[in-house]
Amino acid sequence: MSKLNVGLLRNIGLLLFVLVSAILAGCYPSHPQSTFDTLGPVSRSQLSLFYWIFWAAVIVFVVVVSALIYALIRYRRKSGDGDPPQIHGHTKLEIIWTILPAIILAVIAVPTVITVFDNANSPKSPVEGGMEVDVTAHQWFWEFKYQNPNDPKGSVFTANELYIPEDEVVNLNLYSKDVLHSFWIPKLAGKVDVVPNHQNTIWIKADEPGVYLGQCAEFCGVAHALMRFHVIAKSRSEFDEWLLDQASSAVESEEPLALEGRTLFEGEAQCYACHTVQGSDRSKGRRGPDLTLLASRQHIAAGILENNQENLRRWLTNPDKIKPGNLMSREASVFVEPEKRLSERQISALVAYLQTLE
Ligand code: CUA
Repeated sequence: MSKLNVGLLRNIGLLLFVLVSAILAGCYPSHPQSTFDTLGPVSRSQLSLFYWIFWAAVIVFVVVVSALIYALIRYRRKSGDGDPPQIHGHTKLEIIWTILPAIILAVIAVPTVITVFDNANSPKSPVEGGMEVDVTAHQWFWEFKYQNPNDPKGSVFTANELYIPEDEVVNLNLYSKDVLHSFWIPKLAGKVDVVPNHQNTIWIKADEPGVYLGQCAEFCGVAHALMRFHVIAKSRSEFDEWLLDQASSAVESEEPLALEGRTLFEGEAQCYACHTVQGSDRSKGRRGPDLTLLASRQHIAAGILENNQENLRRWLTNPDKIKPGNLMSREASVFVEPEKRLSERQISALVAYLQTLE
């Protein structure tokens, strides 16, 4: 083999190594989006179905490639060979390679159909007294709506953080406000498409308390990859306490800077037009996330930034830099009209106000 060919083969080998390593890195179980570290019954059943199909495919691969390698070596052209006999078709072989895959597919269909039905039918539906949460996907954030524990006819809204009680079936109704999205919590369940003007459902259950990363899994526009959320599983009592807390209004702060921020939020900056803050007479907008107890959340900006003073500042200074194309940077006058741009002082006041919402 010439020097050039050896060099080329080495480069191709290196490239394949890098590519395969990158792909296999996705199988690393402790990665927050790995489907190999299942922590709920739905994802577990999906993983066992994956293994069924995976091992069936491995067997087919080994048999086919072995036969191919055998044929390549056994029937390779030797010196002195003439043209091989020309044949057309082999009925027996063709029948075998049609029936065999049909049998394999029929066998794989059994666990597939069982899993599909198990995942579609909640073991404790709302009719049977199971817990229910409405999920609405927006470009680009997730809204979660719970029944108000103080008022069965009322609702409690949160954004981007789905609290659930551990080890209980939670039924989710999926809605979209705009385009197609897909609801996916790799370690718990999914994916199910979220379709405009159509209700889909999914049920989840978390084995243990913890934080599970969720991700929109259907391309829905420029910030699709940033459309994340967190599922936070707590003990039943902690969950009940959290929900009661969320059903209350934020405590009014007397801190001057926070008061200044509130005046701005409910006035000049026009935040009230798109955001709800329970307890405020003015802030009742529904286009953006409900901010009632924003300070009690661990993340802002659809799960991509930790909720702290510095990040709130960054978000209010230039939201488009953090989540390109978002509604607020495209439509809110303080970001669209240069003469209405927020001053440093106004941003500090808004951050102070937002941090009192708990
Ligand atoms: Cu929503 Cu992708």
